[in-house]
Amino acid sequence: MHILVVDDEKAQRDLLAGFLRNKGYTVSIAASGKEAIDRNVTTGFDLAILDLKMPELDGIETIERMKEIDPETYFVVLTGYGTVESAVRAMKRGAYDYLNKPLNLDELELIIERIQGEQIMHQELEMLRAAVEDEFKFDSFIADSPKMREMLSVISRIARSDSNILLLGESGTGKDLVARLIHSASSRKNNRFIAISCAALPETLLESEFFGYERGAFSGAEKKRIGKFEFAHKGTLFLDEVGDIPISTQVKLLRVLQEFTFERLGGNMSIKVDVRLITATNQDLQEKIAQGTFREDLFYRLNVITIRLPALRERREDIKLLAEYFVEKFSKKCGRDIESISRSAIDKLVRYNWPGNVRELENVMERAVVLSRSAHISENDIPLEGDTKRRKTIHESLADVEKNHIAEILDQTNWNLSETAARLGIHRNTLRMKIKSYGIKRKTQ
Ligand SMILES: Nc1ncnc2c1ncn2[C@@H]1O[C@H](COP(=O)(O)OP(=O)(O)OP(=O)(O)O)[C@@H](O)[C@H]1O
Ligand SMILES: [Mg+2]
Repeated sequence: MHILVVDDEKAQRDLLAGFLRNKGYTVSIAASGKEAIDRNVTTGFDLAILDLKMPELDGIETIERMKEIDPETYFVVLTGYGTVESAVRAMKRGAYDYLNKPLNLDELELIIERIQGEQIMHQELEMLRAAVEDEFKFDSFIADSPKMREMLSVISRIARSDSNILLLGESGTGKDLVARLIHSASSRKNNRFIAISCAALPETLLESEFFGYERGAFSGAEKKRIGKFEFAHKGTLFLDEVGDIPISTQVKLLRVLQEFTFERLGGNMSIKVDVRLITATNQDLQEKIAQGTFREDLFYRLNVITIRLPALRERREDIKLLAEYFVEKFSKKCGRDIESISRSAIDKLVRYNWPGNVRELENVMERAVVLSRSAHISENDIPLEGDTKRRKTIHESLADVEKNHIAEILDQTNWNLSETAARLGIHRNTLRMKIKSYGIKRKTQ
């Protein structure tokens, strides 16, 4: 919190400023109303404490002028003995509170704490509104396959630590959901979970999202705004699509992770935060490091613990449960009464390759619920492209088909070369040669 103390009496000014600095606030001082207004043009203040009686510009006029510049500043006025009327006038002009001289500093501190509470609440409301629009409901997390159970046990072990976590996995595998799950299993669960998607955000926009900005930091910055790092203080910050962060912003992010301090854009006050960082990407960060588009030092900071979410085709045991779960969810939502899914429909779902993973399954089941004419979902209600195999097969050359097939089996065997070769019916050396000539790469773990 940045506080401006405005008083024409030096002793009073120094007393107040000293007290507030001791309490850990950032304090600026002004000896007159005019100086206060000048300072307000260059710096946005969270709170101004003003003496009402000053030569030239008095407290009330100063408030009015400062409010024109920055309507979000809070004002507390100091009044001498017997000037209740002017305190009342100041309150009418938008002062938050007043204090009688001689000052009771404890009282002042209480007022400041109340103002801080209000500021946070104000922004919280905005965030809540955004969250409701997000329409996220944390109903249920389906994870029955051995791979997912193993992942859950990892999560329960690491959730309470403060280590940074990197979530890897194809699109639609549930990275978002897992990030929220980790937060709600952690000791930070009663504080905020803040998510930002870094995808395709230009540098300044992303940085103002991260760090916030002071009023006037750039054209259009009419009000000061706190960033997501500040907002997630004591909670969890989830950076989605972290592979998309521009390299210059990566440097700044690295600094926050090393020092836990940063400045708002256009500001010079250091802000200290305590956040747990969860990041996610479906890109190959190792490859980006090799290309020079992702910093290696940042990668190691983010990647203290890696959790890889298996693709849906690697855990087909979950497909039936997920399908049933989604049918129930959408039946409720659409007011339909769907009782069952046919066996052959389930078989079809289990055989399909799910390039879009759980999200694709969710969409397919929603469409099935909406379109089904009876209380029973049959095979015909779930048209799947190409049915079992990859859907683009026809358009691919034979070499592509071979390459993709090898990559898929490698994936399934977790790059066990002997097993892959055996399953493909070729010699290990032939497999090695093909991996090399097709340039097949292992996905990051
Ligand atoms: N295990 C699960 N149980 C129930 N629902 C799930 C599960 N996994 C994913 N979902 C649902 O599937 C959808 C996609 O999940 P999510 O958004 O978490 O994927 P993602 O990995 O973040 O995808 P992207 O990389 O595209 O951002 C969401 O609606 C989510 O609620
Ligand atoms: Mg996501």
